[in-house]
Amino acid sequence: MSQNNKSALITGASSGIGLATAKQLLAAGYSVSGIARDFSDVETIGMDTHSFDLSKLDALPSFLKQANLPADVLILNAGYGQFGGIEQFSHAQIRKMVDTNLVSHFYLLKHYLPIFKQRGHGDIVLIGSESALQGARAGAVYCATKFALRGLAQSLRADCSTSNIRVMLVNPGPVDSDFFDQLDFAPQLGNEFVIEPESVAQAILHTLAQPRNVVVDEINLQPIKRSFRKK
Ligand SMILES: NC(=O)c1ccc[n+]([C@@H]2O[C@H](COP(=O)([O-])OP(=O)(O)OC[C@H]3O[C@@H](n4cnc5c(N)ncnc54)[C@H](OP(=O)(O)O)[C@@H]3O)[C@@H](O)[C@H]2O)c1
Repeated sequence: MSQNNKSALITGASSGIGLATAKQLLAAGYSVSGIARDFSDVETIGMDTHSFDLSKLDALPSFLKQANLPADVLILNAGYGQFGGIEQFSHAQIRKMVDTNLVSHFYLLKHYLPIFKQRGHGDIVLIGSESALQGARAGAVYCATKFALRGLAQSLRADCSTSNIRVMLVNPGPVDSDFFDQLDFAPQLGNEFVIEPESVAQAILHTLAQPRNVVVDEINLQPIKRSFRKK
């Protein structure tokens, strides 16, 4: 294990990509704070956990101020999928997805960008999706949030290039996580149809390990085969 005295804050750290990334960053010597609604199923791994619902935007700025979580690296990962035609979503469901998958990221950035700029360095990793690259049937709301993250990442990268702040976007295809638990479809069984959360975490650590003058601006990950099943 190497010690590097760096800190990371991960949203959506209670499962899947976020939890796998937390474990790998801890193993690399980072101190890691995590935000999610429920950490009760997470074994003790040395992460500093904070339970908060990121869709509660009115309370988010004061939560971030009070928690004062250290971050040299900010990994904006929290999100979920819900698929269907727009007319199948209630107004509240549309708001919740946009607030969780997109607007909460803006609030975290508004809190941490001044800190990064004052300190003179920082790394921001946004977890997008293949849905940030290509719209698809039944994906209007989810894809819109993820496309928006890509525009955010590209603009932020330009804004931050003179501040020693690196901005990376990671776009996975189907990942073997809790993401599909509430959905009526999932990747076909077999590891050729899914990416392991640990592989996404490895890609994130790879981007962070580049020399500071190098930004891996975007990574697209796919399983070697693509096929989905109805549950
Ligand atoms: N799985 C895939 O196929 C796939 C593909 C491309 C992109 N992604 C993206 O990858 C990210 C992570 O997903 P995953 O695959 O790792 O799924 P996951 O295992 O379901 O993890 C989602 C994480 O987000 C947190 N979260 C969800 N809503 C939240 C809220 N309102 N407030 C706080 N935390 C919240 C969850 O924690 P709690 O439930 O405890 O709050 C959990 O820690 C998401 O942004 C997802 O869109 C996933």
